[in-house]
Amino acid sequence: MSLLPRIAVLASGRGSNLAALLAARDNGTLPVEFALVGSDKAEAPALRLAEAAGIATLALDPRSYPDRLAFDLDMFQRIEASGAQWLVLAGYMRILAADAVRPWVGRIINIHPSLLPKYRGLHTHRRALEAGDVDHGASVHFVTAELDGGPVIAQAHLAVQPGDDEDQLAARLLPLEHQLLPAVLRLLASQELHWGEPPIFRGQPLPAPLVLAADGTLALR
Ligand code: GRF
Repeated sequence: MSLLPRIAVLASGRGSNLAALLAARDNGTLPVEFALVGSDKAEAPALRLAEAAGIATLALDPRSYPDRLAFDLDMFQRIEASGAQWLVLAGYMRILAADAVRPWVGRIINIHPSLLPKYRGLHTHRRALEAGDVDHGASVHFVTAELDGGPVIAQAHLAVQPGDDEDQLAARLLPLEHQLLPAVLRLLASQELHWGEPPIFRGQPLPAPLVLAADGTLALR
């Protein structure tokens, strides 16, 4: 029986962030075991990636449940049953019911393509461009009942270039997301990071989100 921390991942789509986690696990830089990959979309490519990696998968159809809470409670109960200690939302496009999240607060992280608290929700790249931002990026935060509102753990910054469009921003941000998410999980696995409002990093409350450095590590700015 492995003593590595077990994680579950929820993803609704392409799964490139899941792929980055698997790659980090495979190259020995992310000491975790994947307990389960779940989705609200049976056709999600993320599920195919997980299957190919020999990880247990789960697809639940929201239309088979009376309401959001019933769906989320079933999903979370199955994740708990998988033995997962942490849940990673990696492109999971559903809003979670507050009552389902509450017992899990401190154990769920999410990656979001903006420098939170800016641009919660959708169309983050478009909104950053419309606002004339020169500094854009991605955040990993602990999930609370408030959508994209939990304490921010770490961010990757991306300079907006003149003439950038949404697709260009998204394409340049994605490789940074792929470093940011494993880097945060690494800190959880090494117990350097703990839940808190703000998060606790090496025994101290974080004064500001950690920043992804060029070498892929996270540090206080
Ligand atoms: C990422 O941009 C992530 O920040 C957002 O959804 C996208 C998921 O991409 N939450 P992928 O499915 O991991 O490729």
